[in-house]
Amino acid sequence: MNDKSLPKHIAIIMDGNGRWATMRGESRSYGHFKGTEAVDEAIQGCLSKNIPFLTLYAFSTENNKRPEDEVNNLMKLAVDAVNDNIDRLNENKVKVNVIGNLETMVPEVVEKYKWCMKETENNDKLTLTLAFNYSSRDEITRATKKITQDVINNKITSDDINEELISKYLDTNNLPDPDMIIRTGGEKRLSNFLLWQASYAELYVTDTLWPDFKKENLLVAIDDFMNRERRFGLVTNKNFKDEK
Ligand code: IPE
Ligand code: IPE
Ligand code: MG
Repeated sequence: MNDKSLPKHIAIIMDGNGRWATMRGESRSYGHFKGTEAVDEAIQGCLSKNIPFLTLYAFSTENNKRPEDEVNNLMKLAVDAVNDNIDRLNENKVKVNVIGNLETMVPEVVEKYKWCMKETENNDKLTLTLAFNYSSRDEITRATKKITQDVINNKITSDDINEELISKYLDTNNLPDPDMIIRTGGEKRLSNFLLWQASYAELYVTDTLWPDFKKENLLVAIDDFMNRERRFGLVTNKNFKDEK
């Protein structure tokens, strides 16, 4: 039994760029470049199914600890990818949103993302959220500080703190929770991605490496999602009858 409804929000851990490149005797940075090209495939997949929210894990706070050259290259790539894709994003009516720690993000990237968000703010077909310099524990820590500050400043009281309020203080406050988390590259872990928001997300792991992940692969993942039974902790009619 399943409800056959489409996911409203898909989040993807875009993993495997480095392995994709190493297998071909190329630099990891080349793999990251090919990874930026694959983003359009996921966008087209969502647009073809009228899925309104797509979130992509592009760079974790932990990724800052990679070799300096790789990190610098990823920062440059983030800026270049916006420049190269801004027209296509607007043609496709994609609105860009960014989550992550802006305070510790490279200023050039912050500037470019702010520009991109402004340029695309009136688009209404798909909200594309880039998780950049993002980690879930960092996000929850920042949210906790903001909540504490608002209690101290008497804007809210501790009695106001509930799940809904906490969600509003997270970077994702304007997004619904993801229905499905896809991870490419085969690793079966969340790597500090949307830990709060993914409470009831369906997980889908594929060995396909991110640069090889095409629109068709996304459509297969969506089909898989639609054949799942989401119970949210409840019992189904079918299971209930068995008890009698
Ligand atoms: C994902 O690909 C992109 C980032 C983390 C920036 P990786 O660079 O982690 O690729 P693998 O996992 O080493 O293959
Ligand atoms: C997760 O991939 C982060 C992104 C895809 C941006 P990693 O390659 O950093 O994750 P681990 O190290 O395998 O957990
Ligand atoms: Mg990886």
